Formats: sequence, C-alpha cells, structure tokens
Amino acid sequence: MTILSHVKMVEVGPRDGLQNEKTHVPTDIKVELINKLADAGLSVIEAGSFVSPKWVPQMADTKEVFRQLAIRSDVCYPVLVPNLKGLEAAVEAGVQEIAGFAAASEMFSQKNTNCTIKESLERQKIVCDEAIRCGLRVRGYISVVLGCPYEGDVNPAVVADVAQQLHEMGCYEISLGDTVGVGTPQRTKDLFEHVSKVVPVENLGGHFHDTYGQAIANIFASLEVGVSIFDSSIAGLGGCPYSPGATGNVSTEDVLYMLEGMGIETGVNMNKLLIAAEYICDHLGRPTSSRAGRALLSKRL
Ligand code: HMG
Ligand code: MG
Repeated sequence: MTILSHVKMVEVGPRDGLQNEKTHVPTDIKVELINKLADAGLSVIEAGSFVSPKWVPQMADTKEVFRQLAIRSDVCYPVLVPNLKGLEAAVEAGVQEIAGFAAASEMFSQKNTNCTIKESLERQKIVCDEAIRCGLRVRGYISVVLGCPYEGDVNPAVVADVAQQLHEMGCYEISLGDTVGVGTPQRTKDLFEHVSKVVPVENLGGHFHDTYGQAIANIFASLEVGVSIFDSSIAGLGGCPYSPGATGNVSTEDVLYMLEGMGIETGVNMNKLLIAAEYICDHLGRPTSSRAGRALLSKRL
C-alpha cells in the first residue's frame, strides 16, 4: 500500500486534552487556545462536549466557548454528543458537526456512558438521524479498540461490528480510539485491516493515547495500511476520566514532526503550533508532554 501524500489532522486538545483537568480551565483560555490552534492551520478542532456536567464538569462551559469563539469558515469545530439533550444544546450553540461515541467493551461502555454497547448504539442512531435531519455532519468514535482498562483484550470483530453500525447510521468518519494506549504497531495494522473490510479505510481515523509510548509507531503502522486521518492533542494533553492510568493523546507536535519528515502535507505550521502549546502549558503550569515540542522549544532558547 502506498502511503498517501496528504493527512487530515484532527486536533482534540480542547476536548480530550482538557476534559480530564481537575481544576477548571476558564472559558477564555479555552477559546484562545482554539483560536491559536486555528492560526496554526488546524482545520478540524474538537472544541468541547455537550455531555452531562455531572460526569465531566470540565466541559460544562462548551456553550459559552461557542458563544465567545470567532468561528472561522475554514475551520470545523466538532463537539462530542452522547444523547438528544446534548444534540439540542449543540444545535442551539450553532455547532455544525458532532461526534458520537461508543465502545468496544461492555465494561467501558457502562463506565463511560452508563449503558450497554447495544443501548449506546440505539441512542446514537436516534442522535444521528436527528443531527443529519438538522443538516449536521456526524463523526463517530469507538473507544478501547486495542484493549480495555477493565476487560483487557478486545476482539477486533466487535470493533468492526460497532464501526459498521456507526457507518450505516451515517457517521462519515469513524475514529478508532486506543483509549488506554496499549496498542502496538502490528496489532494496530491488523485491526485496521479487519475493520476496513466493513468500512472503507478512507472513512477510518486513528486516535492514539500515548500511555505506553507506542502512539507514533502506531500512526506509522496505520499509514502503511492506508489510514490518512489522525487525532492528536496539543502538548500531548489529555485522557479519559473513565480510563484510569491512561495518559494524553499523542501530541500534535510529534505527529506533525513525523509527517513533515515523511514529506506528507498537512497544512499545519509547526512554529504556530508551538505558540499554542506554550500558551496552554503556561496556563496549566506544567511542561509539554511532546517530545518534538520540547526539543524544538529548547533550540529556540
Ligand atoms: P446518565 O446519568 O445515565 O444520564 O448518563 P441521565 O439521562 O440519567 O442524566 C443524568 C443527568 O445528566 C440528568 O441531570 C440529565 O439532565 C443530565 P439531573 O436530572 O440529574 O439534574 N444530562 C445532561 N446534561 C447536559 N448535557 C447532556 C446530558 N445528558 C444527561 N448531554 C450520559 C448518561 C451519557 C449522559 C453520561 O454518561 C455522560 O455524559 N457521559 C459522557 C462521558 C464522557 O464525556 N466521557 C469522555 C468522553 S469519551 C472519550 O474521552 C473517549 C474518546 O476520546 C476516544 C478514546 O480515547 O477512546 C472520544
Ligand atoms: Mg480519547
């Protein structure tokens, strides 16, 4: 398989990156971060989520984020939506794209969404139908595709089945989430090869948390089997509140560094990305988790 010459980078920092932060990040900081990421050339920036504030308090101000955001026509700002209540709020906020989410293990589904996989897909179908009726685009996530913090190994056939259902209900893109970051390159390739038998590979994305330091290798492996959409988080921030011990997503800077080195086009500017990373790290009061980011910043000093 020839590696494609263009990759779509989906920035999930303002949502996945911040959702697990214990101290509230003020709305204006979130808005400025999103603006800086847009300035860096990222054309898809997940801006928040309309989930229960009891479950994820950090995202409770997503409506206000949208109110303050100067929406750019060249940027898409998806949000996570688990149910009709979330969709209603998203539509009111003027959101153009939502992301639904399901899991590939029963325990994770219960912990993250308080329902079985089947129930979450039924709920997602209702949300999808209504969102499409309202003219919104719908992305889909599947969590724990390469391992579950509660159940361990996950069967790729379950991932393929969930992916097929999300695709059939109208998700134009399905991002496979290694929520725990346990995947390794060969298993990643095998998974994409399995799932692409039921959903075209051009509709599949990779979402790798970097807990075991495998994310960049997994992205490279995914590129080799034709995947061209990757989620990442500025400064490597993030984690899922229902995935104990898992660290942030692969950093956007590390992904960009690799893709640039391979001559793959992304439209993203590294220097401006570093400005966004410095901005949020200064606010959070801790250093970046990005290896490339750290190296490049130290050269600037
Ligand atoms: P539930 O408790 O079963 O729902 O939660 P409920 O319908 O009984 O509602 C409970 C309360 O929440 C009610 O309030 C609802 O009104 C309210 P009360 O009457 O008690 O005052 N509520 C809402 N409020 C605002 N917006 C909503 C909403 N829905 C209900 N949309 C539910 C079920 C799905 C809502 C809950 O489990 C939930 O919000 N889960 C989201 C968890 C989450 O956001 N996890 C992190 C994102 S997923 C992730 O990080 C993985 C990913 O990155 C990929 C990867 O790495 O694998 C995407
Ligand atoms: Mg995630």
